[in-house]
Amino acid sequence: MNNSFYVTTPIYYVNDKPHIGHAYTTILADVLARYHRLLDEPTWFLTGTDEHGQKVQEAADRNGITPQEQCDRTVGNFQELWKRLGITHDDFIRTTEERHKTIVRAVLQDLWNKGEIYAADYEGWYCVPCERFYTEKDLVDGACPECRRPVKKLVEKSYFFRMGKYQSWLIGHIEQNPDFIRPAHRRQETLGFLRQPLNDLCISRPKARLAWGIELPFDPDYVCYVWFDALLNYVSAIGYGSDDARFRKWWSGSCHLIGKDILTTHTVYWPTMLKAMGVEPPRTVFAHGWWLSGREKMSKSLGNVVNPMDTIGRYGVDAFRYFLLAEMTLGGDASFTEAAFINRYNSDLANDLGNLASRVIKMVCRFLDGRLGAPVTPGPEEHGLVAVTQQAVTAMKEHLEGMQLERGIADVLAAVREANRYFDKQAPWILAKHEDKTELRRALSACAECLRVVSGLLHPVMPGKMDELRAALGLAAAPAGPHLAGLGVWGGLAADAVMQDIPPLFPRIEVPKPETVAVDSAAAAPAKPEKKAKAAPAPMELIEIADFAKVSLRTAKILAAEPVPEADRLLKLQIDLGAEKRQVVAGIAKSYTPEQLVGKTVVVVANLKPAVLRGVESQGMLLAAKSGKELRLITVDGEIPPGSSVG
Ligand code: MSP
Repeated sequence: MNNSFYVTTPIYYVNDKPHIGHAYTTILADVLARYHRLLDEPTWFLTGTDEHGQKVQEAADRNGITPQEQCDRTVGNFQELWKRLGITHDDFIRTTEERHKTIVRAVLQDLWNKGEIYAADYEGWYCVPCERFYTEKDLVDGACPECRRPVKKLVEKSYFFRMGKYQSWLIGHIEQNPDFIRPAHRRQETLGFLRQPLNDLCISRPKARLAWGIELPFDPDYVCYVWFDALLNYVSAIGYGSDDARFRKWWSGSCHLIGKDILTTHTVYWPTMLKAMGVEPPRTVFAHGWWLSGREKMSKSLGNVVNPMDTIGRYGVDAFRYFLLAEMTLGGDASFTEAAFINRYNSDLANDLGNLASRVIKMVCRFLDGRLGAPVTPGPEEHGLVAVTQQAVTAMKEHLEGMQLERGIADVLAAVREANRYFDKQAPWILAKHEDKTELRRALSACAECLRVVSGLLHPVMPGKMDELRAALGLAAAPAGPHLAGLGVWGGLAADAVMQDIPPLFPRIEVPKPETVAVDSAAAAPAKPEKKAKAAPAPMELIEIADFAKVSLRTAKILAAEPVPEADRLLKLQIDLGAEKRQVVAGIAKSYTPEQLVGKTVVVVANLKPAVLRGVESQGMLLAAKSGKELRLITVDGEIPPGSSVG
């Protein structure tokens, strides 16, 4: 293993709330950092936020605040979530901090001085409403791929980084360093990308179009492209350009964890930027897959984004951490569903680990007064259990190196299952009836020893629950968790350890059938008067079918969308109703950006009397589902012409 371990997450955009993808990378980094610390390696864990660029500027505009206010407001959501998730980062960098901006300016100046950055005309297709440049091949039927409106050819002075000249060096570096891009299929992906000629990288944006960024030190009319700025966080945070010894200590052990969508920026832009700066590429860039909602990509417009706070609130932090790590094969995509979560929780945590812990501790407390006494040397009966448990220790270390944490976890669970089998076979409840308690101590000692090892191996994954388990086993608490070296040695429970019974670590999640919920809760309500009964929903007023038939619901395609001035909730939409085009004002600006709406087929109340909202006429109403402040439009499953009737 390496001397030092420096693990980073991507720095997250502050235009939105954190979601499961952000939580996953950060938990993964946390678990790796915790393991490396327990292996006694000097470890540094960095996370943070990416605060410049168009996305943040747009979010600020939508919310009617300054970009800095947008950053200050949103950064807290990330920091709060990391606290809830027990993340043990050593540093949190914000790209609007002076310590970062100083380094970005210095790097830009240095590359400019060395001729690595040059000015030239940039020619591209520009979409004015989207404020974005596209290349010829991005266009769809000659129009903007996002909003389908006409684009115009624009030539503008820009600054370029000479990325292209590093192409053959980069290919050589990737080929000679199999650990640089992991897993292997991602290395192939980058090498595939590098089979095309590598262009130079435009690293400037004119302030006239986007002012929210770090000003170029050699041209005050331009700001730095957000990715060029953001990638430098990995070095600005550890002393690059300010504390060389510190920088070198951490950089040699660098491991960037990223999602697969940001592979090119991290394995092409970043190493070539570093090369131009005279710095070695990072040791490893590891790209994980995507969390899908069932089989679908998570997206705000589909309304299927998993909010980590909700899941934690229902099932607890440790179960959430466990599920994410055990469920995803590192490198591939994985599916998040409530059913899969409950399934894994009940089988691994409630039935296997929780059950073992509960019955072993209960028996030691009941029949041996909580004391196992001096360690019992395992005999032939125990050999299988000892072997599987020790194998889990070796496997976890190997899988940590191989970045296959889910396999390490599976080996630990295999030891737990073996211990449950051993327990059943030994039947300690029968051994407890013997006058001589030697056999009982032997059986329970072996199970308790397995639990000691397991609680150590899973500590980085579920620190809170494993601390509880270790305390119940009578193990002394260690501030960072149990040292991994001590786990391989059988017989680590102290002779004078006293066990204490605890409530179930992972109570089973019962999934009642919907009918039972209603019946049960109705029956249970009077029996628990101390609990405030939920107000019964108001009786629903029933209508005749003829009443419903008065409403003309039609499908409509959204052609264009724009904000209504000085009305931060309203968007003005142009819609196609088949036979006619109409204008509708909808209060959905907090849930959708105009770009997300164009092209969607929605459901509209077509026979509503026109109304004027904030001076703008609205000729109909869009249907949307509402939960709290969140609105999701009712859309149509598949292709159907605009103006089709709905009912
Ligand atoms: N700001 C850039 C990163 C700059 S790093 C120098 C960025 N930010 S992001 O907030 O949009 O995304 C951060 C990470 O979240 C990316 O690694 C991305 O892959 C990850 N995820 C976003 N959605 C995801 C899932 N549904 N599943 C797993 N990770 C996904 O990109």
